[in-house]
Amino acid sequence: MEANMPKRKEPGKSLRIKVISMGNAEVGKSCIIKRYCEKRFVSKYLATIGIDYGVTKVQVRDREIKVNIFDMAGHPFFYEVRNEFYKDTQGVILVYDVGQKDSFDALDAWLAEMKQDLGPHGNMENIVFAVCANKIDCTKHRCVDESEGRLWAESKGFLYFETSAQTGEGINEMFQTFYVSIVDLCENGGKRPFMNSSASFTKEQADTIRRIRNSKDSWDMLGVKPGASRDEVNKAYRKLAVLLHPDKCVAPGSEDAFKAVVNARTALLKNIK
Ligand code: GTP
Ligand code: MG
Repeated sequence: MEANMPKRKEPGKSLRIKVISMGNAEVGKSCIIKRYCEKRFVSKYLATIGIDYGVTKVQVRDREIKVNIFDMAGHPFFYEVRNEFYKDTQGVILVYDVGQKDSFDALDAWLAEMKQDLGPHGNMENIVFAVCANKIDCTKHRCVDESEGRLWAESKGFLYFETSAQTGEGINEMFQTFYVSIVDLCENGGKRPFMNSSASFTKEQADTIRRIRNSKDSWDMLGVKPGASRDEVNKAYRKLAVLLHPDKCVAPGSEDAFKAVVNARTALLKNIK
């Protein structure tokens, strides 16, 4: 049996699972859990000291699920406390604040921390990850848009949700889908059932969309040297158009990336004789 398979009391009926929260300090991990478990929101920031632990029961289909929730502190100071708690986990709520780009950029480092603490025998493939793009109520400060977050999550086979612990938007849906996915995983011998079906777009498509987003000018966007010829621009454009055409590519953000490439080509060709 896999190391982090959950403990069953009565096979087919009750199930005990362990879930943890992960993400930078102040992104809203504790508030998301509080919103779901206690149906309330606290606007004052009360940093989690080390770990908060809670138990809750949920029903998924005919099964009663006993959920042990370990709400982790995001502050680097608590690393020594956190690292004890990664093992034997079936589900991770991985949170970032849509108004804090740093907290989105830190998601890879969070995965790396978990992977390192699980050690060489730990397996991240049989854990359900629910990425929460939190604080969507703060629309004015939003700097990580939905397609960017969704692309990151879905290219890893993770679930993605837009949430607000303040208004409650997306919270119940997130937990319901998360728990159902964990039960599906347990019934599927510890393999993420939706993992392979999520390969609806390729890594090349995901990487290209990210590259286009981060490009500094039209040359860079098309992947040609400044001063390239009409032929070179058209060739690069055709390659990207085939890869990203909305009829062919369902990766989040592909439509915007495609439009940006069309505009970049038009702008460049205007100035090339
Ligand atoms: P650590 O325990 O330090 O790792 O932080 P945390 O991720 O648990 O953050 P916490 O849930 O304590 O929330 C941090 C701050 O963000 C608090 O002031 C919350 O009131 C606020 N907050 C959390 N979620 C939301 C949200 O969805 N919208 C808004 N506007 N504020 C939120
Ligand atoms: Mg907290």
